[in-house]
Amino acid sequence: MRKINKICCIGAGYVGGPTMAVIAKNCPEIQVEVVDINQKRIDLWNHENLDLLPIYEPGLKEIVGETRGKNLFFSTEVDKAIEEAEMIFISVNTPTKTYGKGKGQAADLKYIELCARNIAKVAKTDKIVVEKSTLPVRTAGAIKSILDNTGNGVNFEILSNPEFLAEGTAVDDLMNADRILIGGDETESGQKAKDTLSWIYEHWLPKERILQTNVWSSELSKLVANAFLAQRVSSINAVSALCEKTDANVAEVSKAIGHDSRIGSKFLNSSVGFGGSCFQKDILNLVYIAKSYGLTEVADYWEQVIIMNDYQKRRFADNIISTLYNTVSGKKICFYGWAFKKDTNDTRESAAIYVADALLDEQAQIVIYDPKVSEETIYSDLDYLGTRSPEENRKLIKVVKDPMDANKDAHAIAIMTEWDEFRAYDWKAIFENMLKPAFVFDGRRILDKDKMDSIGFKYYKIGQS
Ligand code: NAD
Ligand code: UDX
Repeated sequence: MRKINKICCIGAGYVGGPTMAVIAKNCPEIQVEVVDINQKRIDLWNHENLDLLPIYEPGLKEIVGETRGKNLFFSTEVDKAIEEAEMIFISVNTPTKTYGKGKGQAADLKYIELCARNIAKVAKTDKIVVEKSTLPVRTAGAIKSILDNTGNGVNFEILSNPEFLAEGTAVDDLMNADRILIGGDETESGQKAKDTLSWIYEHWLPKERILQTNVWSSELSKLVANAFLAQRVSSINAVSALCEKTDANVAEVSKAIGHDSRIGSKFLNSSVGFGGSCFQKDILNLVYIAKSYGLTEVADYWEQVIIMNDYQKRRFADNIISTLYNTVSGKKICFYGWAFKKDTNDTRESAAIYVADALLDEQAQIVIYDPKVSEETIYSDLDYLGTRSPEENRKLIKVVKDPMDANKDAHAIAIMTEWDEFRAYDWKAIFENMLKPAFVFDGRRILDKDKMDSIGFKYYKIGQS
């Protein structure tokens, strides 16, 4: 084990920012430098108003306020940070490829390769390089090859240390992680590197929670963990469709099966469909890897998780259209929520985007309120799909800052995100504000059906007839 004084993290995103802030808080003797090529993002991380940090996570601004300028630094000086650090975390984005071989499935590793080449070029002393990004199994081999063949003759140890934080609970997940996974070579120097990284986490986590494996098991475990979690959501969503046909209640079914300790109660909330930057991307990557080894049945098995998720989003949109007398053309539909889950401003792959797109195809007028997502983000999410021109999107969509403005004269409300504030609204006042019959489509199952019925709403709750 070697003591580390300086670490750097390449990539100041949803993982790099919170992870490094928590390391800085728990390891005051280590200097932590987070670097990114995105100047705007770094400026926001350095903004004196902590409410303007580029990422919203409960508890994050307090930690950044406590550590920034002491042992936590944000900058765009990537080369300098690499040169000075003894340990380098790579936490850049690894999106699904949008071109060439593997388009639509494989992970795009161009940002990872750029980082590896940059580290090789700049490093003048031995480094431990840590894969924090989620990567296809066997990527460490490619990184090692680039570092060894283009470097300055210094020694590199490559570790895989995937991140399991979930957005909205990132700080708590990091502070009280169920486990830390560290994969590395089973050589003497590999073991030393693994122990060095373990030492960092042992500053605040019990040693028993730090698991060491070979590098390939670690890389693969990350994809598999996300695939298992997403599979549970798709499984319960498949059941929700059956519940709606049979008068069963999906919440009761979840509770009944979740009481079996072999099944467990977590991740069994039926919804309008899972979103987020990870589940779909990582399953597609798993499918691609299985296919590339000729394992067609394995690939098809995991692909079904995504097919079911797409079905759930489409089913929700179709239900709105058919319930509103088979036409939403010119009708005002209020969306409560745009983020892919509560307590985050992240909208990547949010179900709301796809439900909105389906309704816009039918010429609906959508008015959106989300407590943390900006107007600019909502428009760019829809523009990115390319279904219609940016001008048309702006014509059909309105984004408001007051939730009561969103429901004024609306034909229907669709609850897309489970923000706590939606539960606390004065639903009687909302009913008065809307056109009649007033429809509510609850894609997150957050409201009480009896109460909504008694107010007079035509209330539809996913997974319940
Ligand atoms: P992100 O897009 O929020 O952040 C990535 C950052 O890397 C961006 O700011 C980008 O500018 C920067 N970057 C890209 N190339 C760079 C380069 N060559 N030099 C310097 N900076 C560069 O992504 P994220 O959500 O933080 O995800 C990062 C990785 O972590 C991905 O592999 C993802 O799958 C994984 N992951 C994400 C989550 C999550 O909840 N978001 C959870 C676990 C794992
Ligand atoms: C996920 C993993 O949980 C995390 O370990 C990994 O590091 C990154 O990917 P994240 O995508 O941030 O985290 O959030 P998560 O809480 O997993 O939710 C993902 C999606 O599933 C959200 O849209 C959420 O609303 C949905 N979901 C989750 C359900 O619909 N039902 C559930 O029971 C749980």
